[in-house]
Order: sequence, then C-alpha cells, then structure tokens
Amino acid sequence: MLNSAKRVEAIELSQIRKMFELTNPDAINLGIGEPDFNVPENIRTAMKRAIDEGYTKYTHNKGFIELREAIVDKLAKENNIKTATENIIVTSGASEALYDCAQALFEKGDNVLVPNPGFLSYAACVRLAEANVVEVSTPMENEFKMKVEDVQEKIDKNTKALIINSPSNPTGAVMDKKDIKGIADLATDHDFYIISDEIYEKIIYGRKNYSPAEYSDNVITINGFSKTYAMTGLRIAYMAANEEVTENLLKVHQYCTANASSISQMAAIEALTGPQESVKAMVYEFSRRRDLIVSSLNDMGYETVDCKGAFYVFPKVERANDFLEASREAGVIAVPGTPFGSLGENHLRMSYANSYENIEKAMDILKNLDY
Ligand SMILES: Cc1ncc(COP(=O)(O)O)c(C=O)c1O
Repeated sequence: MLNSAKRVEAIELSQIRKMFELTNPDAINLGIGEPDFNVPENIRTAMKRAIDEGYTKYTHNKGFIELREAIVDKLAKENNIKTATENIIVTSGASEALYDCAQALFEKGDNVLVPNPGFLSYAACVRLAEANVVEVSTPMENEFKMKVEDVQEKIDKNTKALIINSPSNPTGAVMDKKDIKGIADLATDHDFYIISDEIYEKIIYGRKNYSPAEYSDNVITINGFSKTYAMTGLRIAYMAANEEVTENLLKVHQYCTANASSISQMAAIEALTGPQESVKAMVYEFSRRRDLIVSSLNDMGYETVDCKGAFYVFPKVERANDFLEASREAGVIAVPGTPFGSLGENHLRMSYANSYENIEKAMDILKNLDY
C-alpha cells in the first residue's frame, strides 16, 4: 500500500472525537465543546436574508470589507488593539486560523511553546508544520494559569512562537494581566511570535480578558464566532496580524480555503454589530451551571480551581480512567485529561455546555459512583 506523508501518519485523530462516536446517545454528555444554545435570532435572520439577497459568491480572500471593518472596530474598542482592515483575515473557524499560522510561520528546527494542559490542535498543528512542540507547564498549583517565569525558562535561540489560550480549553483558566503583558514583552525582547487564541474571550465570569497584542507587535490574535454566538457549525473566525505576517498567512489561507463562507460572513457582521443581549444571557446561564458543577464536585471531595472562563472544569480525580469507565456505565460522559498533555493525568474535563437540569442529574449520579 502507498504510504501517506510521515508527518501526517505521526499524528493521531482526536481521541475525544473518537470517544464520542462510541457514546450512548441517552447518556448525559459533559464532554461537549460547544454551546448548547441556538444561534441568536437576529443572526439567523441575517443569514436567511444573505441567501435571498444573493450573497453566495466568492468574497475577497480576506473576507468582506464590512466584516473586516466591524472586526477592526471591535478590536479597538474591546481589546485596545489598533489594526487595519488589510491586516485581518476571516477564516473558516479558529481551527483554520491556527493551521494557517503554523504553516505560514513554522518549519523544521523551530521550537513552538504550547500550554500543558492545552487544546489538542496546538501540538498537532505544530507537528504538521514539522516544528518541535515545547510544553509550558500550567499546573493546578498555579490555577492552570500560564506564568511569565514558566515561559521564560523555555525560551531558547530556536523559539519561534508561543501559543496562549485565555480563557483556556480544557481548564477554564483566565491568565492574569501582568503575565499577559510580561509574556508580550518577552516576545518583543526575544523576537518570537505569540499566537493568542481568544475564542472564549466573552465566556468569562466577573473578569476581563487581556490581549497580548495590546503590548507587542509580534502577536497574531485569533478570535471567532463559534463559542460567543454558538455558531460552531458555521465555521467562521478571524485573525489579526502585522502587515508582514499577514501576507504570508494570506498565502496559506488563499490556497487552502480561498475565503470563508459568504453566508457565515454575513452572519458574523450581524453578530458583531447587532444586539448583544443573547451573549449576556448565555454567559449568565453558564455561570449558574459553573457554580453548580464546581460546588457539587467539591462536595464530593474532588479538587477544582476557581476557573473563571470558558465552559469547562478540570477536576483532579485519582484513577481517572476507572472513574470515566464507571461514570460512562452509569450514564455520564466526561473526557479524560491526558489527551490535553501530561499534566492532564489524574484530571477530567467536564463541560457545562449542557442544561442545568442535566448537570443536576449528572451530579446526582456521580455522587453515588462506585469505582
Ligand atoms: C481553544 C480553542 N481554540 C479553537 C477552537 C476551534 O474553534 P472553531 O470552531 O472556530 O474552529 C476551539 C474549539 O473547541 C477551542 O476550544
């Protein structure tokens, strides 16, 4: 049989996706990585209108100018990032943006720093670009936050980039402003890129997230619509970079997808410029569920940290695999921590993107779990 490329054979398909394929559909699924809310009505209407009005052709490779203008305004107002429409590329999800960054920036011999535990795609994208993954520990003792000192000790002459993700998947950790600024200063001083994945920016409880691009020019900011507006299937996100990098990012984007879906782009314009009440309501509901799941787990004796963002909790659970098997049999699905990195050992990721009632039921089941 003909071989595939070694760099592709060497990486695995997502273990989490594989696990879901085996899941009993009647179980309560706390493994989910997408909001259980519908796309807000004003956005659905904008999409229908877009179809009727014929927004179904190729768009500018970087995306509709009206969308890029709305993104530039958003970044200026909410993130203190000054950029221009030429430096924005609208992509088919943050997943594409991450892949574009890796292909445009990394090559053999480069070291790319990624959080441990961290989102699965980071290491895979680095490896697909034949660069080396260097893990930065974000341990439970630090509430899973990435710290300047921990990044600093991993920097060497081959460091090409650092990927950060605040709020984090899988831990819900929100980085401190001083670390964001300190890490941005390191990127400027040591001349490496930061790829800042801010997809959970708005799903945050009583805090604000800070963008490293406020403090350094070496930053590529990635954000999107999947989580904030429950638009996962619409595959729409964007990245903002400096001029020099944008041209190379555009080459990868252009030869890969040409442009993001025109209908989804019209939806994204409405998302950014329309009313934001549905986002507030969704985040409020997530915060209620977070309180419920965290306090229930703590009552059962499982240690958690006070995770301030995203919709995940990452409790410490000894013999996590036994727990997972018993909970699956009892009708509750969670995700093991190990696919997210070695520091995920003895942890589980539980998502609260499920109804309050289902979380209550799941917690009742787990209280009596025998494993
Ligand atoms: C941290 C993180 N980044 C990126 C993505 C991908 O988002 P998108 O749907 O925009 O491709 C996800 C999705 O789960 C995620 O958790």
